[in-house]
Amino acid sequence: MTLSPVGRDLGRVDARPKVTGRARYAADYQAQGKAYGYLVQATIGKGTVRAMDTAAVAKAPGVVAVYTPFDPLKLYAPAGGPIVENYAPLQDTRVRYRGQIIGLVVAETFEQARYAAGLVTATYDAQEPRTSLPAGSPGTTAPGGEPGGAARSTVLASGVDSIEDALRSSDVSVTTTVTQPAQSHAAMEPHAALAIWHEGHLTIHTGTQAPAIHAQSIAARIGVEPDRVRVVNPYVGGGFGSKAPTWSEPVLAAAAARDLKRPVKLVLTREQVFVLTGHRSALTQRVRLGASADGTLTVVAHESDAEDPAVSAWPMLPAQGTSTLLYKTPNLAIDQRLVELDVPPVCAMRGPGESPGAFALETAMDELAEKLGMDPLELRRKNYAVTVPGTGLRWSSKHLDECYRVGAERFGWSRRSPRPRSRREGDWLIGMGMATAIYGGGRIPAQARVGFEADGTATVGTATADLGTGARTVIAVTAADALGIPLQRVTADLGDSALPQGAMAAGSLATASSVPAVQAAARAAVTALIDQAVQNERSPFHGLDKDDVTYSDGRISGGGRSVTFRRLLQTIGLPRVQATAASSAPPPPDQYALNSFGAHFCEVKVHRLTGEPRVTRFTTVIDAGRIMSARTTRSQISGAVIFGIGHALLEANPMEESGRFAAGNFADYLVPVNADIPDLDVHYLDRPDPVVSELGARGLGELPSVGVAAAIGNAVHNATGIRVRDLPITLDKLLG
Ligand code: MOS
Repeated sequence: MTLSPVGRDLGRVDARPKVTGRARYAADYQAQGKAYGYLVQATIGKGTVRAMDTAAVAKAPGVVAVYTPFDPLKLYAPAGGPIVENYAPLQDTRVRYRGQIIGLVVAETFEQARYAAGLVTATYDAQEPRTSLPAGSPGTTAPGGEPGGAARSTVLASGVDSIEDALRSSDVSVTTTVTQPAQSHAAMEPHAALAIWHEGHLTIHTGTQAPAIHAQSIAARIGVEPDRVRVVNPYVGGGFGSKAPTWSEPVLAAAAARDLKRPVKLVLTREQVFVLTGHRSALTQRVRLGASADGTLTVVAHESDAEDPAVSAWPMLPAQGTSTLLYKTPNLAIDQRLVELDVPPVCAMRGPGESPGAFALETAMDELAEKLGMDPLELRRKNYAVTVPGTGLRWSSKHLDECYRVGAERFGWSRRSPRPRSRREGDWLIGMGMATAIYGGGRIPAQARVGFEADGTATVGTATADLGTGARTVIAVTAADALGIPLQRVTADLGDSALPQGAMAAGSLATASSVPAVQAAARAAVTALIDQAVQNERSPFHGLDKDDVTYSDGRISGGGRSVTFRRLLQTIGLPRVQATAASSAPPPPDQYALNSFGAHFCEVKVHRLTGEPRVTRFTTVIDAGRIMSARTTRSQISGAVIFGIGHALLEANPMEESGRFAAGNFADYLVPVNADIPDLDVHYLDRPDPVVSELGARGLGELPSVGVAAAIGNAVHNATGIRVRDLPITLDKLLG
């Protein structure tokens, strides 16, 4: 028996190519005779381009082509969707936001293209852009939602005329209004594309979270059949949502390469990445909670206003997935509004609605606990939702209560003083806070291919992506488990749209969706191998009934004989036997709610004189079904908590009135570094979900980022008595 690698603490299967630099990212690819593109961007926030002068550009050294709205590449803008930008550049003269693409210069080298792009001059008819939430027209209730859910403007009321009435008749109520500025994904790898045409077929190397959808979307936007576009990109240097949509850079590279009949590479600068590839919307939220004197919630009301740019990819819905699910309440009101603005595109980012939404809800819960004189953890336990509020729908598996208990014990929550500013060590004020984490835990249909190779190895392939999450390892682990062979003998291929259609690596869907697809493909491959064993004349099992031949742990047995699959394939002279299969249908959403859960406990210290906040201890316990890999799970939890520390204390990309982001580099856009992060105490329950799939693994990538900012804010309040409601919590807000 081969020991199954499922859940074990094993190194990543792609660790070696990554640390030795052999792993190639989009911009690392080369092609004979390639030219380089560089983008020209609008310098006004709103209006139209009246004219562009490209005479000097055309004469600049090395310039091959200049494309503008007056001399465009023909592109199409198919209907947008949650992960497809509803926009094609250069097709009109309208400027929708500052930094929008208004030109593409192609030259022999990157430097020549960049120099020449600087020579382009444009004149505009400029208008005043609306660049902040208060400047926009009053928000309209969000019309659409993220995949798998609709926006809600809902009131579930029982026995009351309105939410206002319900609040008024509650013993205790709180109103918490919180704000946060725009934030940026900050993936290390910039967006890039190398487009290569060969006999009417495009191969494009470009980082993406969804290779198959990306290929289809690029094809639609350059006007070719989907089977003519192949995205090849096995390694992605972070995405965090920004590489889920198809933005303009692969589309322009593909169209320019087609026009020029040579490969074109287009790499965005860091500043262009900040502007052109999505950001997390600036956000204002108001949560109102009502409760009876014993802490029983009577009202949860959650409103939000978020950016609705003209070129958008995703509506911010912070209450959906947080206030709609977390606590039992007879009265629930949700209103998520979008405000039309002339700002760069928004898109999903790291627990997209849930992370900001949980900051609002879980801050309000802390305020309510204080007002009730109740322990914040006790308040959450008291209002624990056994079924989805207002629907009676049960969860497939929910062990949030255990997360609370285990987390509180590990952290030492019982030592928290309820009185703010009551614990001090030297010049540091110490506080403790907690919050709940929740995120979607379902899956989507996916396909995979598994092959037995004549060298004794196995291959598994599915068109999903590993953004650095460990997905490649999890997929290899699943195949090794299903085939009963050591992990070292499995090669996993991802990041290629020519592979069987896999799950997008977004919405924390990749693991939950890929695992059952790989299992199905492994079973199909075993069936195909046994068919060969009984049908092939050279096989030692030839002529046996296939029901009398079995496969286990890498061996085929039957008729008193047993050989390895390597031996069988070599004997019958086949290089491989492989099969493709689809996962079974995901559980229907009207039968069970599928979510992953977690609990955060946090200690901070705040300097009495400087106001500097530091996170000193952090315990997270998550419930995400079966754990496929101990090490990638710990790494995912740690990474997500670090996201949350950035969300709470550092990350901000405020917008100037002109529509320009304040930060366009990693010196101005602050993300946590090692010195900001204490030793993280991360823990998982590993309780397989009996509904989601046979192995029972749910998603966990984004989950642990949800609630972190609130846990930190609540701890800061416990330390200082100061409630910071506008993120990030910087020292200027803690002085005095
Ligand atoms: Mo993730 S923010 O759902 O790509």
